[in-house]
Amino acid sequence: MATRRIGIIVNGATGRMGYRQHLVRSLLAIREQGGVELAGGDRLLPELLLVGRNEEKLAEIAERHGLQNWTTDLDAALADDDYEVYFDALVTSRRLDNLKQAIAAGKAIYTEKPTAETFEDALELARLAKAAGAVSGVVHDKLYLPGLLKLRRLIDSGFFGRILSVRGEFGYWVYEGDWQPAQRPSWNYRAEDGGGIVADMFPHWNYVIEELFGRIEDVYAQTATHITERWDENGEKYTATADDAAYGVFRLEGGTVVQMNSSWDVRVHRDELVEFQIDGTDGSAVVGLHGAWIQPREATPKPVWNPDVKDEHNYHDDWIEVPDNQGPAGFDNGFKVQWEDFLRHVGEGRGAEYPYDLLAGARGVRLAETGLASAAEGRRIALDPLTEA
Ligand SMILES: NC(=O)c1ccc[n+]([C@@H]2O[C@H](COP(=O)([O-])OP(=O)(O)OC[C@H]3O[C@@H](n4cnc5c(N)ncnc54)[C@H](O)[C@@H]3O)[C@@H](O)[C@H]2O)c1
Repeated sequence: MATRRIGIIVNGATGRMGYRQHLVRSLLAIREQGGVELAGGDRLLPELLLVGRNEEKLAEIAERHGLQNWTTDLDAALADDDYEVYFDALVTSRRLDNLKQAIAAGKAIYTEKPTAETFEDALELARLAKAAGAVSGVVHDKLYLPGLLKLRRLIDSGFFGRILSVRGEFGYWVYEGDWQPAQRPSWNYRAEDGGGIVADMFPHWNYVIEELFGRIEDVYAQTATHITERWDENGEKYTATADDAAYGVFRLEGGTVVQMNSSWDVRVHRDELVEFQIDGTDGSAVVGLHGAWIQPREATPKPVWNPDVKDEHNYHDDWIEVPDNQGPAGFDNGFKVQWEDFLRHVGEGRGAEYPYDLLAGARGVRLAETGLASAAEGRRIALDPLTEA
């Protein structure tokens, strides 16, 4: 069986996500394992061209990982027919123009979310890709997390009966940056630079909800900028203008109610940085990034409210851990698994119909934009199905 190369332009390899999750954990790991296997047995081996603004940083990363090809000239990279895929992990505010240029250059597109800063722009990207017949993929990494894969298994098995509600808790304490450096980039806290937890997290909640629980019919959100002063990468104080917490309620087709708290200003008293509790008529589950616990109807205790007596029952003990059932290799990195899916899709010439495409990305941006509008106007806002660009 033959090994074929697939050229990928990697823009943003110096960033937090671009470097760690996409370059090191995904693309280099795929190269190390000898590529991805296609239907028919051939293998597809990524060949990378790193693009960025800073020659020194690019050269340093290239050398560290034994890569030969890097450039600061995006136009030249896009004009190079040896590279079929354009990948973008830049700051969100830079994405629109680059994706437009890459679509015009005839590339397949793979990109971080959010795909644009406004729904209008995100939809335009989906339309441009459609008109060009371009394959497009948007990072939907949370769907590939072990915890959420276990959740999908539970849903497929019919474990829950009718799903009544979902409560999600996402967040952790992000340092302000003065006496301890912040663990996230400062642009995340400036609205004028594309920051904000709604813009960051609602695109994730959109695909998690629509893929696992159903279409979102309407949204209500309350946002807050709880911490208004932070310190940037150079130790300079700045005004945090973007929302750093969002309290959202999403009503789904079929009646399920999803509540999501997203916050960079909470201290964790959970097992994981994100957890969802799903309550159904026949059973409930609590899932995180990795773990999953269930409580079937038959094993549900019958608490009686009595504040006068200390309740000695340990409610945590009522839950059963869901096993991995995933073989000796276990679950792979979610970003890598989606890269493999996408590359197989392109390599097997399956056409423009990749499920997590720029239209799905646009729905994510729409949820963020609508969430912010809901918060600003103090009302619940309905969402139409958006199945065509
Ligand atoms: N899928 C996820 O779970 C996830 C998590 C975090 C961030 N993200 C997304 O990934 C993207 C990058 O986020 P990050 O946290 O890695 O940010 P980052 O600030 O660490 O990296 C941003 C990259 O953009 C480059 N850049 C910044 N300003 C630029 C400019 N003016 N022109 C050209 N390049 C510029 C930087 O050099 C760097 O390579 C964002 O769109 C973010 O929403 C996704």
